[in-house]
Amino acid sequence: MSQDIKNVPYHVAIIMDGNGRWAQQRGLKRSMGHLEGSKTLEKLGVHILKKGVKVLSIFAFSVENFKRSKEEVDYLMNLFVEMFTKNFKSFQKEHIKVVFSGRKNMLSNEVLNSMNEIQKKTEDNTKGILNICLNYGGQEEIIDASKKIALDYHNGKLDLETLNKETFYKYLYNNLPPIDLLIRTSGELRISNFMLYQMAYSEMVFTNTYFPDFNSKEFDIVLEEYYKRNRRFGGN
Ligand code: FPP
Repeated sequence: MSQDIKNVPYHVAIIMDGNGRWAQQRGLKRSMGHLEGSKTLEKLGVHILKKGVKVLSIFAFSVENFKRSKEEVDYLMNLFVEMFTKNFKSFQKEHIKVVFSGRKNMLSNEVLNSMNEIQKKTEDNTKGILNICLNYGGQEEIIDASKKIALDYHNGKLDLETLNKETFYKYLYNNLPPIDLLIRTSGELRISNFMLYQMAYSEMVFTNTYFPDFNSKEFDIVLEEYYKRNRRFGGN
């Protein structure tokens, strides 16, 4: 499923970090960093998918992010509703399909409705997939997959002999391919419970740029770095 080194990465994932620091550096409220980040995401997402990348996964909100102040959580939730219902037009125009990964609990009906709306509007699009990870955790995804497996086994729908590294993907939130390239912005060197199963062999690039400033030009530089890597998948 993953592509060879000379090819454009099939699945790119981004941990969009540094919105808060971007804003603080300018004497602005953290929320302004998120707003700027959402504008960056729309332009960058279209650029990345136009480059030939087929799947772009982004970390919009982790299960742990609910621990942030009520003001910040409320701001982010409203921003999501705004983006999914009014903005994100460029993704529709470019025939990109939007899907979501994450748990549905904790999210308000308003947020859930806005997610359904953009999913419905874009479900027939075939140019690429934007996978928005919202109320998402990588360990949680593996636990939820394990529960679905147990249920299928219990109901006689699964022969355990057929379960392997490839078929396990079907039980994840979306049956997306492994991640070829992971990017984390803002200088933090962690994967923070992002797509753990899909990231087993991904190349990782960490940049110091805060996400709102991570533009198309910076992505192209990261892509050059990716092309220089020698992907061995455990072989030699
Ligand atoms: C991490 O930066 C960023 C987030 C927790 C939110 C990411 C959200 C966006 C980019 C907004 C738009 C997204 C969509 C899907 C419309 P941080 O706040 O942890 O920054 P810091 O580490 O500098 O404090």
